[in-house]
Amino acid sequence: MSETVAVVLAAGMGTRMKSEIPKVLHRVAGRPLVAWVVQAAFDAGVDRCVVVVGHAKEQVESELRERFGDKVAFAEQTEQKGTGHATACALPALEGHQGHVLVLYGDCPLIPSDILREVIEKTGNAPLALVTATIEQPAGYGRIIRTKGGVTAIREDRDCSPAEKTIHEVNPGVYCIEVGFLREAVALLSDDNDQGELYLTDLVATAAGRSEVPWVEGDMHTLRGVNDRWELAQVGEAMRLRINETLARDGVGLVDPATTFIDADCELEADATIMPGVHLRGRCSIAAGATVDVGSVLEDVKVEAGATVLPYTVATDARIGPVATVGPFSHLRPKTDLGEGSKVGNFSETKKTTLGKGSKVNHLAYVGDGQIGEGVNIGAGVIFCNYDGVQKHTTVLEDGVFIGSDSQLVAPLTVGKGAYVASGSTVTKDVPADALAVSRTRQSNKEGYASRLRSRFQAAKKSAEE
Ligand code: UD1
Ligand code: CA
Repeated sequence: MSETVAVVLAAGMGTRMKSEIPKVLHRVAGRPLVAWVVQAAFDAGVDRCVVVVGHAKEQVESELRERFGDKVAFAEQTEQKGTGHATACALPALEGHQGHVLVLYGDCPLIPSDILREVIEKTGNAPLALVTATIEQPAGYGRIIRTKGGVTAIREDRDCSPAEKTIHEVNPGVYCIEVGFLREAVALLSDDNDQGELYLTDLVATAAGRSEVPWVEGDMHTLRGVNDRWELAQVGEAMRLRINETLARDGVGLVDPATTFIDADCELEADATIMPGVHLRGRCSIAAGATVDVGSVLEDVKVEAGATVLPYTVATDARIGPVATVGPFSHLRPKTDLGEGSKVGNFSETKKTTLGKGSKVNHLAYVGDGQIGEGVNIGAGVIFCNYDGVQKHTTVLEDGVFIGSDSQLVAPLTVGKGAYVASGSTVTKDVPADALAVSRTRQSNKEGYASRLRSRFQAAKKSAEE
């Protein structure tokens, strides 16, 4: 069997997006538009994919290489002279290829792999086959021109006659083309149209001149392209619901799919619970029995079995260990690693810190560059002073340490096993194991002094008013 190859057109700027970012790199559920299309092609059984790049070529290539490695090759279209010209630019990369080529546009992220498989199968020995779809509002799309039932041409919206504009059957932009025919036919393309471009769609009339054009009926909801930000938002919404439905049917407890945003590269186990207003970005994983509560925003975070993320937690590049608890209102910054059963409570911030099994940072603390053992208790308002204005320094708290409230630990610092730091201390020297560190002025009580003080203040107020 000959290999199946796809060509994905992704060289355009996407002017209608009004963006510095090229259209195909705008994201839907965390993946660039073009990555969705390339993935669909691979899911349909394609062995190799040639992506035609132009605008922001380096960026597009690096995003795709990162995801697909050597399975994607690139061809350059230096000037954007239309979809036909873009496809021609891929031909050198198809040297030696026999059989058919699946040609797709890089801006239709919802495209399902089964329609691609269907059109490949339907092609047979025909020079060209395509997908069509019928929609209520065809404006903007190329129209399918039929003669006696058979597909004979595609007319671009701007080149349509008034009668052709009323056609509701449109071109979603999915073609399966025999490579020899493709070579011949793109050489014949003319730019005699409203945009002065070489249209890939003109290949359809050429193919129809030779044989019947096989076609497969698709659903435009899944084939629509993205041309502006509003369409991007609509496609994003459709993708979100698709992801959420799949997760819910796989056993994830999604309370409100309409307000739950989960990127495509996240993994959730059955019996994980996601409450309303949660955003899971990048590559999060949420294990069975874990809960992510209202309004939390997690990016690249691993939430292990039975852990609880209470409302309005923000976390990035972190691990939340089994049955650990975080939040409400906690901020876990990159390289936070929370051990089993540990706890980070409200208004606490962590950064590049490991917290051992059962250790607690319950309230209002800043814990940065910390190596914290097991069973450690960090009181309310404790600050790790990790930065001297030039360098970051590490604080080590060994197992069983107790840090009293409102203490400052000035790094580099080690507090030995089981040691105790009295509240309100500023600790600048290492504390040996089992020691008590106190660094605060001694308290003195002056008996009966409060009422005397109060009378003095009242008298002062009265004389100021006179
Ligand atoms: C195209 C089709 C139209 C179809 C619609 C479906 C043509 C001429 N028209 O129109 O029939 O209904 O898609 O969404 O094919 N690109 C390049 N190089 C270029 C031009 C485009 O790589 O020189 C790429 C773009 O990056 C994009 C894709 O081709 O990913 C489609 O281009 P776009 O300008 O969006 O085509 P439409 O005008 O939407
Ligand atoms: Ca388009």
